[in-house]
Amino acid sequence: MQDKVFEFISYIITALSNCSLYSDSHPAVIYHAEKAVKVMDNLFVEDTISLAIIGSNMIFNDVPFAAKNILVSNLIKRLRRKGIEKIIFTKGVTAEELKGFIAEIAFSKRISGIYPHITSGIIEVNVKTDDGDIRAIMEINIAKVKEAYQEFSGDKKLDMLGLEDVVISLVSSLTREAGIFNIISPVKSYSEYTYAHAANVSVLSIFQAETLGIKGELLHDIGLAGLLHDFGKVFVSKEILEKKSKPSLEEWIEIKKHPVYGVMYLSRLSDVPNLALIAAFEHHMKYDSTGYPETNRRSKKQHIISQIIAISDFFDALRTERPYRQALDVPVIIGLLMEASGKDFNPILVESFLNSLSSVRQL
Ligand SMILES: [Fe+2]
Ligand SMILES: [Fe+2]
Repeated sequence: MQDKVFEFISYIITALSNCSLYSDSHPAVIYHAEKAVKVMDNLFVEDTISLAIIGSNMIFNDVPFAAKNILVSNLIKRLRRKGIEKIIFTKGVTAEELKGFIAEIAFSKRISGIYPHITSGIIEVNVKTDDGDIRAIMEINIAKVKEAYQEFSGDKKLDMLGLEDVVISLVSSLTREAGIFNIISPVKSYSEYTYAHAANVSVLSIFQAETLGIKGELLHDIGLAGLLHDFGKVFVSKEILEKKSKPSLEEWIEIKKHPVYGVMYLSRLSDVPNLALIAAFEHHMKYDSTGYPETNRRSKKQHIISQIIAISDFFDALRTERPYRQALDVPVIIGLLMEASGKDFNPILVESFLNSLSSVRQL
């Protein structure tokens, strides 16, 4: 039975991946949807089959599905990102119907519920447009980032599931909320800086990516890259990071190792997207290939995802007061960004970011 369930899940995730890569009319999507329906027919004991997601587990017909592999984890991740917590298939599902449902998971913001034999339970992400609510939601997100960062220790792995939830909430907040400035959070205390900064860089990067037309899985991966860009700082001593004066040369050398520390740790985890590894390593490299970490390939160009994260990082860091410098006003930061455009930052991305900011700016 487990084998058949696994086969069914494999066909669904393969159809879904092909659908995201090509289109819903690609032969591989149709082929795998047909196969899934055939296998499904053997799985009905009564009239329905249910697939539910609880945390990082898949529950098939109310029984936890024990096998854990990359395909199952991938399906869990994709359904969670869509807010789907349960799917119920009723006898009579056609390949055409399943294909339509899969295409909605791949491309639509919402699942329409027009399928006669497939129903899905959606977790509503509660985001209201009122200013107070969005602040409360960001507080929760920052607390979740803090929890994930703090609970991590030598033998306990980083809680990627908690961080996934933060990204889902940030994407949803940005969709429903008109102004990015309502979402990015002021830093209340210095000890909160790391977590608020991670959330702000994430939301600013999702904002930039959306204005470039990026959506779906890639958008979520960029959100995770934003949350994790400075994770390597966990391995730098607190005394250095929280020092009230400018760091000494030796301390500065240590701080500059955080991209390497970050990628060394994150690359050992199975569920961190490659983009997050790239951004963790490259976010202090610059558009003109200067910056750090220094590599022996000077001609190496910074990845576009790292370029996006670098702009968000710069923008948020300067907005925030630090022990050794004042917070800067947004118009001043915009001036600095323009000045560094073409040298430190990709000029096309800077232009796109500033255009989008000016259309939502509420100063
Ligand atoms: Fe950094
Ligand atoms: Fe940063």
